[in-house]
Amino acid sequence: MNPKQETRVVGASVLRKEGLAKLTGRACYVDDIAADGMLHGFTVRSTIPRGLIRSITFDPAIDWSEFTIVTAADVPGENRIQLIIADQPCLAEDQVSHCEEPIVLLAHADRQKARAAMDAVKIKYEPLPAVLSIEESEQQETIIWDGGNILKKFLLEKGDVDSAWAGAAHIVEGEYRAGAQEHLYIEPNGVIAEWSDETGITVRGSMQCPYYVLKSLKGVMGLPEEKIRVAQTETGGAFGGKEDYPSMLACHAALLAKKSGCKVRMIYDRAEDMAATTKRHPARVRHKTALDSDGKLLAIEITLDIDGGAYSTLSSTVLSRATLHSTGPYKCPNIRVRSRAWATNQVPYGAFRGFGAPQVIFAMERQMDEIAAALGIDPVELRRKNFLHAGDTNATEQLMREPVPMDELLDRALTESDFYAKRKQFARENATSDVKRGIGLAAFYHGAGFTGSGEVFLNSLAGIVVTPEGRVQLLVSNTEFGQGSNTILAQIAAEALGLEYGDVTIAMPDTTTVPNSGPTVASRTSMVVGRLVERAGGQLLTKLREEASLGERYTRKDFFAACERYRAKHGKVQAEARYEAPPGIFWDDAKYHGEAYGAYSWAIYVAQVAVDRVTYTAEVEEFWAVQEVGRVLHPVLAPGQIEGGVAQGIGYTLYEKVLNESGRMANNQMTNYIVPTAEDMPPIHVTFHELPFAYGGYGAKGIGELPHDGPPPAIGNAIRNAIGVPVNFVPLLPEDLMTLIDTREEATV
Ligand code: MOS
Repeated sequence: MNPKQETRVVGASVLRKEGLAKLTGRACYVDDIAADGMLHGFTVRSTIPRGLIRSITFDPAIDWSEFTIVTAADVPGENRIQLIIADQPCLAEDQVSHCEEPIVLLAHADRQKARAAMDAVKIKYEPLPAVLSIEESEQQETIIWDGGNILKKFLLEKGDVDSAWAGAAHIVEGEYRAGAQEHLYIEPNGVIAEWSDETGITVRGSMQCPYYVLKSLKGVMGLPEEKIRVAQTETGGAFGGKEDYPSMLACHAALLAKKSGCKVRMIYDRAEDMAATTKRHPARVRHKTALDSDGKLLAIEITLDIDGGAYSTLSSTVLSRATLHSTGPYKCPNIRVRSRAWATNQVPYGAFRGFGAPQVIFAMERQMDEIAAALGIDPVELRRKNFLHAGDTNATEQLMREPVPMDELLDRALTESDFYAKRKQFARENATSDVKRGIGLAAFYHGAGFTGSGEVFLNSLAGIVVTPEGRVQLLVSNTEFGQGSNTILAQIAAEALGLEYGDVTIAMPDTTTVPNSGPTVASRTSMVVGRLVERAGGQLLTKLREEASLGERYTRKDFFAACERYRAKHGKVQAEARYEAPPGIFWDDAKYHGEAYGAYSWAIYVAQVAVDRVTYTAEVEEFWAVQEVGRVLHPVLAPGQIEGGVAQGIGYTLYEKVLNESGRMANNQMTNYIVPTAEDMPPIHVTFHELPFAYGGYGAKGIGELPHDGPPPAIGNAIRNAIGVPVNFVPLLPEDLMTLIDTREEATV
């Protein structure tokens, strides 16, 4: 868009497209679809992290003729889930590589019978030594993966790091860790599959990426694309957790449906969903930083290791995003990042809001505060000295062509939070109080859209059609799962066509009716798909002007009359737009160099905390989120995204701890995996600095993931400020803070 362009619908707080249906209970989630005549499918899973399957026997006390039973032997196509590398079996064959790995599927019309029968399937294993952590994997005593347990590695280099150390006034080293995190979307994973010998397989369910699901069904079922239909049902949250796993579940339900000839529903309960599906990758990040006597960055060396789990799934792309975000929004002439994703016998880790960035941003921003402490300078000024500006290049030597507003964001955040006054006040009060308060900040950026050439390869296509009934329909495969994408895309279409928001409808994505506009991931929907919808709208107008004499100025009535004239000539009224990279975007995958992202969103987040020295609990008292995400398309949904991301980030930092016992999640319940509720949330002050981005939908850049990046380091730095002890890991539950504080005190006694 033209940055000065006035808009009517974009930028207005229109009602959510699916809001009323959700509010009134009319919205139909997969578990709301009547189960009459359907079978209930269940999954028998591995109870050990690694071993050979010696036998599978079925207890004769049960009449198994009533059941549909599926094993790997029933897979008609290739027994592999199709992600980046097809290494993950749909059902285990002769060995298991992680706890909860699916081995046998059972279906029965009676849900209770089906569930009870799972215990009557006896699996004998010959256990093999398991690798359960990054440390165990890198020792390479037990090799579970070709290439020495490394699923993927990257080397990012700029300048000459090795020569920089000698001339440095200061060298600061640090090691930081970030744990796993469960998505805890409100609605667990679920699908319904239906088989027909004539038309093939139909799968409906809760998902982010219908075309990903289609790809796996094609491989596993051995079917051509025209015999596969994947349709999203209303989806109750995803956060990345429904990016890859629905492909697995859809294949399971499809196998049961084909074998039984019946409709099969598979809906996980909370415990199964938490134990068996993906989580955020645990990470270990080592920093070595060189600075000159002025506090300017001379060299950054980072060794980044993530636990990928038992199969490669999305680990390579998560590692890539982590690598590219690891040096933060700073200018530094010499950079080396070595990163590796390790194979372990953990349940495969997967996509989660931020996609590798929260872990490395925690490390970088904690490191910046430790550098400031070591040099005895103000952490704010240290950042200010080193920020990227327009015209600089970042770690991959991507030239910052767009404005870089870090200084403005920082000024705003300092003023809004009264940062310096609070630092002084807390230092004074802490001396005589058991409650230690602190304030800390984090500076960061988040690249929007697929990494590198990803968007070019996706080659996304979006369409707009005007029906004979006078409805404008959007044709996109992007999924609404609570984030508001249907609303945003409908606003953009209405704006582009000069119509009302209410004129635009958007159907649940179904691969038989919508083109592939790409997956709903990577904070790409408003920016990339929004831009496609905007362009498709423009093209539709051009067609109507050129071939149906629509005037320069027109009313709603004129528009639909022109559509009818156009329809009389051409049969249908439709326009589409395909992705085109912004100019000057070039990425070299081999050298890992160039334009890593089409655009970056920028932010400064500030946290104020109180640490109780008696109970060892840390609480966020107030939070400020100041960011630049391009144009704000919806003044209610945009802050909603920020508040939700901050809430999840606070959870990741202070509440959410995945307890792992021998490769199994031990606390796979909402009673012992604690997420913050409204009660635990501090006031969150959201500020947008708007700089419309010329290649995003009406000026938008990515917004969805950014807010999860900032809270861990902002809170970590605030706790550091409060208690004077470096906090180099998340999550930080009271028991962790107790160990941290008491160990430090013993050491200094
Ligand atoms: Mo997302 S974490 O890119 O589904």
